[in-house]
Amino acid sequence: MKNLLLLSFLSVFAITLLSLDNQDTLNTHHNPSDSLQDSLEQDRKKHVAAVLKSVGDNRGAIADSVFEDIQMLKGMPVGRLLAIMEFGYSKSLGVSCGHCHDVNNFALSDKPQKEIAREMSKFTRKINLELLKNIKHISADATVNCTTCHRGNIKPALNMP
Ligand code: HEC
Ligand code: HEC
Repeated sequence: MKNLLLLSFLSVFAITLLSLDNQDTLNTHHNPSDSLQDSLEQDRKKHVAAVLKSVGDNRGAIADSVFEDIQMLKGMPVGRLLAIMEFGYSKSLGVSCGHCHDVNNFALSDKPQKEIAREMSKFTRKINLELLKNIKHISADATVNCTTCHRGNIKPALNMP
């Protein structure tokens, strides 16, 4: 009887230790996709800070007066253009700046992704200003943006997970 009690005490003790160990694993180990997101975020922040520094930390300057090849995002402050780059484009696609840019010269358009992004912007505008508006009975604020399709992926999904 004594042995049985001791045995059950020991097994409760062992189970407690095991579950503590599991807790520890849960608390100290990052989900790998979290750390990927963290490093993308840090990389974007680093590039945004460098670009800002290169224009004298002037977020309010008009983008096309300080950047070299603005073809569509004209007339907006530098801070707004960089927010579109960081959150509108990069975060929506789950990438950092280097996906579309040579990060040593942001004005170059040598990567096909930068040209595609210009076309995607026109495509999104056409959906919003022409196609959605022609759908009868749709809500007045119906809108799509890069996130609607991309949702953190380079290629939009075609199937539910
Ligand atoms: C999905 C593609 C894409 C991503 C990702 C992206 N950009 Fe851009 N970027 C563009 C496009 C397209 C333009 C040109 C806009 C235009 O023609 O009006 C541009 C223009 C720029 C310019 C102006 C360059 C010049 O001198 O003409 C800067 C600076 C810039 N991006 C910085 C960034 C930074 C910093 C990041 C990351 C936080 C970033 N971009 C991420 C597509 C992208
Ligand atoms: C209506 C859906 C939709 C919207 C909105 C949309 N995209 Fe796309 N995008 C696509 C599809 C579909 C592809 C092609 C994916 C493939 O290659 O199979 C694509 C491809 C791209 C690519 C090329 C991906 C690569 O291979 O690197 C870029 C860059 C891109 N989109 C940027 C954008 C940006 C920036 C916006 C917002 C201005 C945007 N997209 C909005 C559907 C969309």
